[in-house]
Amino acid sequence: AEALRVGIAGLGTVGASVVRVLHDKAAELARQCGRAIEVVAVSARDPRRERGIDLGTASWFDDPVKLAQADGIDVFVELIGGDEGPARACVKAALEAGRHVVTANKALLAKHGVALAEIAEKKGVLLNYEAAVAGGIPVIKTMREAMAGNSISRVFGILNGTCNYILTRMEAEGLSFEDCLKDAQRLGYAEADPTFDIEGNDTAHKLSILTSLAFGTKIAADSIYLEGISNITQADIRAAGELGYRIKLLGVAQRTDSGIEQRVHPTMVPTASVIAQVNGVTNAVAIETDILGELLLSGPGAGGNATASAVIGDIADIAKSRPGFQHGPVFGRPAKELVPYKKAQ
Ligand code: HSE
Repeated sequence: AEALRVGIAGLGTVGASVVRVLHDKAAELARQCGRAIEVVAVSARDPRRERGIDLGTASWFDDPVKLAQADGIDVFVELIGGDEGPARACVKAALEAGRHVVTANKALLAKHGVALAEIAEKKGVLLNYEAAVAGGIPVIKTMREAMAGNSISRVFGILNGTCNYILTRMEAEGLSFEDCLKDAQRLGYAEADPTFDIEGNDTAHKLSILTSLAFGTKIAADSIYLEGISNITQADIRAAGELGYRIKLLGVAQRTDSGIEQRVHPTMVPTASVIAQVNGVTNAVAIETDILGELLLSGPGAGGNATASAVIGDIADIAKSRPGFQHGPVFGRPAKELVPYKKAQ
């Protein structure tokens, strides 16, 4: 079979890891997919930056929209980030040009996912986004494919590696919030603007995607009750500990008598519970269903290689898919079932 030709826009922490792994694992991937996967074109802001990656003969595009529309690519991989600007423009352009798209961009999907999915469905191409939720954990494929037929009553979890890393180190080492955040940034876990991590927006973006998959509703990130971890102090963590609890930033979506409720806030979880043992940059997603029962997935939630693993899984899926294959309506029905969460006083 002919090689799958990939164009990648964005060569930051994740983009550089994707290029490196595709290069180092080329033979393994070709064996698994039955065809080679080749990076034929790239785009990034600074062409001169030393990234320690081998771009081979890939052509360079200054404009990611031009790359998205280029004739010679089958799959466009968006790793720029941000819910507007070049990321949105190039994903839209790629889908309209009939290219499959792989993106790790949860902010973009939370805001424009429905509109983008509609273009993908109309054009008969795939919009894959495993890396957008919980980093390397294959939660999208699990919910969309492996759990078909299950009715989900609740999905919740630790969806932001940066926050969990901060809370874990504050508790274990008594470090300050600011020092932990700096380390999370240095390790490539945090968003370009870390406010999105610590104020819970990133968790809300990811939760809105999970809610849509779990309940078949349209993505509605705006209606999520939101509270981050920036006000959590050492005293809070110690007080929780004395009572036998640990503080975790959770995203929760559940079916209630009045509709589907979505919320993000710091939560006291019993120290002995499984979710309390999820530490550091690790994420976890718990899913409760009628057929399967309770499922808990945990694994690396942020960082170059973990996120690259999910991106590459999505590219490999496309390499193996038949032309015209669709996953079914991507982001669901109108959101009339979603109800605002009212915090108990
Ligand atoms: N900043 C995000 C996190 C990256 O810390 O979880 C992964 O989406």
